[in-house]
Amino acid sequence: MAMANSLALVLLVVAGAVLSLPPATLAVTSPYVRPKPRATLSLLKDDDDDTGGQTPEQVHISVVGSDKMRVTWITADDAPATVEYGTTSGQYPLSATGSTTTYSYVLYHSGKIHDVVIGPLQPNTTYFYRCSNDTSHELSFRTPPATLPFKFVIAGDLGQTGWTESTLRHISSGDDYDMLLLPGDLSYADVYQPRWDSYGRLVEPLASARPWMVTQGNHEVEKIPVIEPHPFKAYNARWRMPYDAAAASPPSGSNLYYSFDVAGGAVHVIMLGSYADYSPGSPQHTWLESDLAGIMNRTIKPAFVLALVHAPWYNTNEAHRGEGDAMRDAMEPLLRGGHVDAVFAGHVHAYERFARVYGGREDACGAVHVTIGDGGNREGLAEDYVDPQPAMSVFREASFGHGRLEVVNATHARWTWHRNDDDVAVVADEVWITSLASNPACNK
Ligand SMILES: [Fe+2]
Repeated sequence: MAMANSLALVLLVVAGAVLSLPPATLAVTSPYVRPKPRATLSLLKDDDDDTGGQTPEQVHISVVGSDKMRVTWITADDAPATVEYGTTSGQYPLSATGSTTTYSYVLYHSGKIHDVVIGPLQPNTTYFYRCSNDTSHELSFRTPPATLPFKFVIAGDLGQTGWTESTLRHISSGDDYDMLLLPGDLSYADVYQPRWDSYGRLVEPLASARPWMVTQGNHEVEKIPVIEPHPFKAYNARWRMPYDAAAASPPSGSNLYYSFDVAGGAVHVIMLGSYADYSPGSPQHTWLESDLAGIMNRTIKPAFVLALVHAPWYNTNEAHRGEGDAMRDAMEPLLRGGHVDAVFAGHVHAYERFARVYGGREDACGAVHVTIGDGGNREGLAEDYVDPQPAMSVFREASFGHGRLEVVNATHARWTWHRNDDDVAVVADEVWITSLASNPACNK
């Protein structure tokens, strides 16, 4: 008995010592041994491929306002920019018509890119639809709910490799979700335009079923001096987001940055542009000021405010260190003033979660910063970290995977990171986030 008491005393002392350790020693660099990068998928069409014509492909959807959805798809030949839809499979009592565009890039000529906004739609409802009057290709999506809870999937730097496929499979086979957010670097086409088409085919099963809200990364720029002087040509043509006056208030005027509400205004999402001018006085900076002032002036403010950006503002990986610093200096005070709860970034091909931070240090009224640039791209993982791990970097690991944020209620959201662990999705990091809006100390 005496021996048992002594053992208990020793355990108590050890536990006490562990719990009283300074935060730096609680920061975690995962020891997980990760598999190798995987090859780029072959989803390019052969010249003798007999599909095409007016057959819709690369279908994806994005929200427009609180009750509309933009449907975007591509056909090889001219076809009607029409979406027929309804809530019963095989019956399409409603229809809408939109517009069609094309673009050329060096010697490449895109297919017909169709864009149709449909609605008003009921929240949390499954709609069946078909594009360009195509009778062989029924699709369906579910509209987001108009109230909390609300479930986001967040995945960056996706690309189109075997690991991308693994990430997409984990997303679709995991718990159901309402919307996917992508903080830049979509296709890794890198000026070879058919890769935008193969990417569109790869993501269609998911992107045609749940809204995909994206912002740009460096791989979307695709500017070639003299030959292709205008950046974002393919990205803007293929992945139009709700930035204009018909879709957003305030409209940003640029497809490179915009914002929107979900869950009836309970969550406000800000998509920032790392590769658009963000300096004070720039259109993006001015728009962000206006956007955040707008939500702070609401009678009922959002419970949670989220922001996405490509180049991380906080990063202890050796890759891309300091690339987000200038944008952070320009915009972090605005986000703090707008009570932004979390900032999700890509660019660094690894996962990292910080504590609430502001001005380069831990701050209970700052945002949780997460790097989620681990979707599966062909460039592989960024495995080298700064040592020792700073206390504000809570967890970091160079593995492919995706994240999920469930805003459960007006005060709490649960963040989980799902590693592609030998093709099995494993929750490797998890944290509950309490909203700044519910913290009196941050609302003085
Ligand atoms: Fe990037």
